[in-house]
Amino acid sequence: FDVKSFTIPGQYYLDGVLLGSYNPPDGMKALREFDLFEDDCIVAAYPKSGQTWTLELVYLVLHHGTAYERENTARDMRTPWIEWGPVDEERLRNISNIPRPRVFKTHAIAKHLPVQLREKNVKMVFVFRNPKDVAVSYYHFYRMNAVLSRFPGTWSQFYEMFMAGNVAHGSWFDYVQEYWREFKDDKNVLFLYYEDMVKDHAGSVRKIANFLGRNLRDDVVEDIVKRTSFKTMKDNFATRAHKIPFFDENISPFFRKGNVGDWKNHFTVRQNEDFDRVYAEKVAESGFCIDFGE
Ligand code: A3P
Repeated sequence: FDVKSFTIPGQYYLDGVLLGSYNPPDGMKALREFDLFEDDCIVAAYPKSGQTWTLELVYLVLHHGTAYERENTARDMRTPWIEWGPVDEERLRNISNIPRPRVFKTHAIAKHLPVQLREKNVKMVFVFRNPKDVAVSYYHFYRMNAVLSRFPGTWSQFYEMFMAGNVAHGSWFDYVQEYWREFKDDKNVLFLYYEDMVKDHAGSVRKIANFLGRNLRDDVVEDIVKRTSFKTMKDNFATRAHKIPFFDENISPFFRKGNVGDWKNHFTVRQNEDFDRVYAEKVAESGFCIDFGE
């Protein structure tokens, strides 16, 4: 297998960022122009950073009262991915009409976000995860996902692609640094860390509630924690990636491990040294604080 000739379906570059057929140019344009309401909340993250989990947390903080009745609403209609797929007017209408306050997912880089985000002071949650675990999680996702060509290479080959930023949504280093630079002082943006969420799940629910101006009773917080545990989400119809035709969960499940530090089972000593050097050069001065679980 020659990694140099590896591409994903519909691969193209938008402002230097690699994207595939599932986020085509017209979808990215629709995202830029997407109409927002002041009470929307956007959850943005680099792939495999715990975004599905965070979307469900935000969704339940805002909709706990009706979430049980809407249990059978599939994920794309609870927390839609705005720029998903070739533009389909009916889907765009449908996702626009979900019950408010609406919660949306995006993988866009900072400069591709909807123009109205800033214009209307819409709130956004950004999730960080330590990039060693992101790379490992992404590798397994690339293996099982047909829209990512079911990557047939080795971990080491994927590692090289990841470090070169030659993966869907581009370089992790550029991606998070652009968000941080653009939004770190913005009171409408909450930065969360996957590792903190694992360490203090209930605390993260409270942090999100606080940010969104919701005062939750303790029993509600407890219920949200229960409903968003790794195991519950893996088994729950509404949250699991049920019947997504391009996923082959026999290769690797979508809810894979859900822990901190799986990179230690994948990174070679040399890769780890190489990574630490690049990380120190590129982001050590950025001011955000990543916990690698060391
Ligand atoms: P792993 O592959 O390391 O297991 P995203 O949703 O951004 O694609 O991120 C996927 C990662 O989040 C996967 O990591 C997945 O297992 C993990 N994840 C999903 N739901 C989770 C939960 N409720 N608690 C902890 N981790 C979760």
